[in-house]
Amino acid sequence: SKGCRLVGIGSAVPSLSVSNDDLSKIVDTSDEWISVRTGIRNRRVISGKESLKDLAVEAARKALEMADFDPNDLDLILMCTSTPEDIFGAAPQIPRELGCKNYPLAYDITAACSGFVLGLVSAACHIRGGGFRNVLVIGADGVSRFVDWTDRGTCILFGDAAGAVLVQACDAEEDGLLSFDLHSDGEGGRHLGAPMSDDKTDELLGSNGSVLDFPPKRSSYSCIQMNGKEVFRFAVRCVPQSIESALQKAGLVSSSVDWLLLHQANQRIIDAVATRLEFPQEKVISNLANYGNTSAASIPLALDEAVRSGKVKPGHTIATAGFGAGLTWGSAVIRW
Ligand code: ACO
Repeated sequence: SKGCRLVGIGSAVPSLSVSNDDLSKIVDTSDEWISVRTGIRNRRVISGKESLKDLAVEAARKALEMADFDPNDLDLILMCTSTPEDIFGAAPQIPRELGCKNYPLAYDITAACSGFVLGLVSAACHIRGGGFRNVLVIGADGVSRFVDWTDRGTCILFGDAAGAVLVQACDAEEDGLLSFDLHSDGEGGRHLGAPMSDDKTDELLGSNGSVLDFPPKRSSYSCIQMNGKEVFRFAVRCVPQSIESALQKAGLVSSSVDWLLLHQANQRIIDAVATRLEFPQEKVISNLANYGNTSAASIPLALDEAVRSGKVKPGHTIATAGFGAGLTWGSAVIRW
């Protein structure tokens, strides 16, 4: 069996809802500015005792339930996140919480807003070439924890969420990943990131009088820094190209694809990409008005809503693309 299909999906968001009006009380902005420039009206933010792990587990449970699937039959969990609650990796906590007794492999994939597309492709590669059969791909990010809430240029954009998809080995005719196209550009990375701050170490004198850079200081990360205009330009230039290339590999044209589902960063980016690819508005999936940019979670969150509301039906094809920090971007043509 050389195919892999998507058999279950789920998502979860934190309970705290933060509106544009709420934000206008902490930074100099307005509902009008935010909604006109971005299309975002609300976002959910992790608060109190909530954790990213809990959101990821809730999304995972829903995906497994939809497929009526026993967590003990999972053999791989890919946790696509750039905001893990442990820098050594958050993934192994997921099978533990799901109650898997079989100790499945679980590891993190760090690729910001492209994480979920990369996770999906990785799942397919593990299935096609690695002998894995049941892979859970989770996109989960708590970007609110890395945002400077005094910077109106960035804090208005992001929200927290998790989404999960169960990918399963199947016959080639039932394949659910028709094609993909993945890229990175470290040169453009300076336009968006949360780099480790370069605190100098204490200067200590070595025994022979030389200056030692030791011991190192504990590292910390800066808040998200972004050149919005450059990121916008990058997305509108690279995403249509990437989707076109994926469509070509699948032998498809946009008019024969049922849905366009982009990473939910900004409605203006979504509209510009849709126009370039000649996708009419009614074939574009968008829910960022309610959740903002939820990074690696945005695609499975939007797909979950579209599947559960009956928009996306079995057999439908979806052109999807992630793009963001790194810079990284990539697209996949999937069949639900
Ligand atoms: N409210 C009011 N005014 C604001 C706000 C705000 N929240 N933010 C910025 N402004 C002001 C600026 O200070 C500036 O004022 P000035 O002209 O007096 O200097 C003016 O509005 C225009 O600012 P720009 O930054 O030029 O606004 P722009 O039209 O580029 O919109 C935006 C900014 C919405 C961020 C846009 O550039 C964008 O969406 N870019 C893409 C960002 C993105 O998608 N990032 C995430 C990528 S995914 C990932 O990996 C994390």
